[in-house]
Amino acid sequence: MSMKNMLVLLGTLILTAVLMTACAGPEGPAGPAGPAGPAGPTGPAGADGKDASTADLTCTECHNDTALITRHKANWETSVHGSGAGLAYAGERADCAGCHDGAAFSEMIAAGLNFSQVESGNTAPTHQDCRTCHQIHVTYTGEDWALETNAPVAMVTSGVTFDGGNGNLCANCHQARKNIEGFVDKADATKYAATIRFNTHYSVQADTLMGLGGAGVEGKPGAHFNMVENTCVSCHMGENQVHTFEPQMSTCVACHADATDFNVNGFITAFDEQYLALEAALLARGVIDAEGATVPGSYDEAVAFALWNYNLVHEDGSQGLHNPSYFKALIAASLAGLGE
Ligand code: HEC
Ligand code: HEC
Ligand code: HEC
Ligand code: HEC
Ligand code: HEC
Ligand code: HEC
Repeated sequence: MSMKNMLVLLGTLILTAVLMTACAGPEGPAGPAGPAGPAGPTGPAGADGKDASTADLTCTECHNDTALITRHKANWETSVHGSGAGLAYAGERADCAGCHDGAAFSEMIAAGLNFSQVESGNTAPTHQDCRTCHQIHVTYTGEDWALETNAPVAMVTSGVTFDGGNGNLCANCHQARKNIEGFVDKADATKYAATIRFNTHYSVQADTLMGLGGAGVEGKPGAHFNMVENTCVSCHMGENQVHTFEPQMSTCVACHADATDFNVNGFITAFDEQYLALEAALLARGVIDAEGATVPGSYDEAVAFALWNYNLVHEDGSQGLHNPSYFKALIAASLAGLGE
């Protein structure tokens, strides 16, 4: 049987099942067989020799013999969206589900809410899958590949609007959950009370692209926000829309013609050196432990800012690349604040 016929058959079976369940009640005794009905009218002619009902189905715009679905699916399965460990941990909780459960995200967007307004988790959470980012099985046509949303995002912790084309889809989830203001020490407002999670949460990328999320430096949107069309999507998927969501060198070389890896002009090498100097300074003060984890305590501004910015680099995950000038300034200001 061809794929198309199988789908038609499947569609018919599902429809039959739906009709049958719709009138489910207690089963009565079988009635006598009725008389044979009159012959029905002749049906309309099918298009191009096909059955009329088949011609109406657009399933094959996606379910066909090409690799349209399977190509992306194979990449997606290896991605953190398709396999990440955060799901089981966070998908069921209301304050996490908007970003960690695919279905909760779709409901959240449809209701015009943001992650902080989601009221319940999902007992059977799903990964960030095709249905999370695309509108699968809504019109049952190729139009369903349209993104679930690409509307600008009012970021929750800063109130600033992120408008980066198709990257807006990503920014709904990849934005900070917390800022440093949330940690002002209630007993002494000149200090910050650091917990083991003295950070923005891992999802701070939309903020850092715009020069937000750090402490003690007035940042601004960098070239990687202003100049890269569709922001996240261009760098992390490239022209071929690679669904591993890993940054694509082919995008970088459009602007950095001579680049052979992400370490353009040795930026990462130089940045890491400064970052390690900051790490050593914080370790010497007992503010982080040997693993780099925050030692909880109430810290004055200079130490708190330095610690916050140190953690920001880890949570952002790009080694400063999302906004090179901003990250460089944050580390320099942190070291200066500590008198290093
Ligand atoms: C816009 C593209 C698109 C169209 C049009 C489309 N599908 Fe799908 N369909 C998908 C994707 C994507 C999946 C999920 C694939 C996966 O995870 O393996 C899927 C999954 C399915 C599944 C597996 C069960 C499930 O829901 O995950 C069935 C059955 C199915 N489609 C039937 C149909 C039928 C019948 C039609 C037409 C009435 C249709 N599809 C139209 C994209 C499409
Ligand atoms: C529904 C929320 C959501 C959307 C939309 C979303 N992400 Fe994610 N993303 C996540 C979560 C949650 C994780 C971590 C998953 C886990 O660990 O279980 C993640 C992981 C990632 C990772 C891997 C990070 C790592 O630690 O290796 C990258 C890269 C990424 N996303 C990029 C993107 C890009 C680019 C887009 C837009 C095209 C996007 N994401 C859209 C929620 C989302
Ligand atoms: C604003 C969206 C958002 C919310 C809300 C959110 N997360 Fe996340 N979370 C993310 C993104 C995006 C990532 C992945 C980013 C990365 O890896 O760089 C992530 C990563 C994680 C990871 C690391 C996963 C791994 O594979 O290592 C854990 C654990 C996690 N989140 C737990 C939680 C918990 C628990 C909550 C609720 C208390 C929560 N998150 C709420 C967006 C969110
Ligand atoms: C984290 C979000 C995300 C997930 C998950 C995701 N996609 Fe995509 N997909 C995108 C983005 C962003 C694009 C690029 C759209 C653009 O540039 O117009 C895209 C593009 C596509 C395209 C090309 C669409 C077109 O109009 O040419 C197809 C096909 C596609 N995705 C299939 C899939 C399938 C199949 C899955 C599930 C296995 C999937 N996607 C999961 C975000 C996602
Ligand atoms: C200029 C290109 C560029 C843009 C724009 C960009 N990124 Fe990145 N991103 C990178 C590079 C390069 C890395 C570092 C990858 C590495 O070190 O392997 C990275 C790292 C990440 C990571 C951490 C991955 C990990 O392995 O821990 C996440 C998550 C991420 N980006 C998400 C996003 C999101 C979401 C956006 C949009 C809000 C975005 N990025 C915009 C290039 C970009
Ligand atoms: C649309 C153009 C554009 C694209 C695409 C782009 N960049 Fe950039 N990038 C710039 C500009 C302009 C600067 C300099 C301004 C600045 O530092 O903010 C820059 C700066 C940098 C720096 C700092 C270099 C230095 O000398 O300090 C690094 C590293 C970098 N980009 C890496 C990347 C990587 C990796 C990618 C691909 C994942 C990428 N860029 C994609 C335009 C781009």
